[in-house]
Amino acid sequence: MQIVDSVSALRAQIKSWRQQHQTIAFVPTMGNLHQGHLSLVVKAREHADKVVTSVFINPLQFDNKADLSAYPRTLEDDIRQLTSIDCDLVFTPTVDVMYPHGMASHTTINVSGIDDKLCGLERPGHFDGVATVVAKFFNMVQADIAIFGEKDYQQLLLIKKMVNDLNLPIEIIGCPIHREQNGLAMSSRNQYLTLPQHEQAAGLYQTLLEVQRQLESGEQDFNELQKTAVEQLQNLGFSPDYVDIRRASDLEQATTNDKALRILAAAHLGKARLIDNIACHLA
Ligand code: PAJ
Repeated sequence: MQIVDSVSALRAQIKSWRQQHQTIAFVPTMGNLHQGHLSLVVKAREHADKVVTSVFINPLQFDNKADLSAYPRTLEDDIRQLTSIDCDLVFTPTVDVMYPHGMASHTTINVSGIDDKLCGLERPGHFDGVATVVAKFFNMVQADIAIFGEKDYQQLLLIKKMVNDLNLPIEIIGCPIHREQNGLAMSSRNQYLTLPQHEQAAGLYQTLLEVQRQLESGEQDFNELQKTAVEQLQNLGFSPDYVDIRRASDLEQATTNDKALRILAAAHLGKARLIDNIACHLA
């Protein structure tokens, strides 16, 4: 696997692959890789001749400085894991490579209709930071497809909307959530949990499953379901930001006519802010 940290070296390799008519799949990450990330790389391999992964902790998307400095940095281990699953190239730029003139005056991308809801409300500027760095990566890598996890469902829709709105020549593919044995969605932030909290954290997924079960058995009072779910999380020791039943296609408020729903939640437990979501298809 090639390890590349400059844009020029990345472009040279991409150009050479293109001359050999190779297709390219791209998986952006912030490192500290776990099985969830690796499942994206495996999926990328199914769709293209060459797989490029990026490992870059993007300061522009952190609304909280302490969160940025605490974010786990495990590049050596990430490289070992990517090598073991046959990734072709990992791009590991520094902040200076990505933002050579600083971030304060950098052009940003705002994908409209995304940051006024759910995690956008809790994390001001976060989604602009994500859209901006991903657009930069898309221009650098020039891949045919890019893979994103459904774990960050709002982020996945943000990227799809940006690609659509800006006519970017890339196809976005979503990948199911990889979970631990107790149902907890895998996340780099799970390591902020103590061992007992780790068990407790499974309650987030259980709460979503309960909402899904109620919806599938015909319950139509979304507000009541959301309220009960928030209370359940509080009883389990979480500080919930939200539990929301939304239309899966655009995360607008769901109505009783909608069939494809997404149930999303964010909640604090100990030092971690956890997010999770599940699909709900009504007959
Ligand atoms: P990061 O949190 O490292 O996640 C990288 C990719 O892995 C995202 O597409 C995310 O949805 C996916 N992922 C994380 N946990 C997963 C799980 N348990 N199952 C399936 N997929 C999972 O998301 C980011 O980084 C950044 O915002 C980024 C897109 C790289 C831009 O900086």
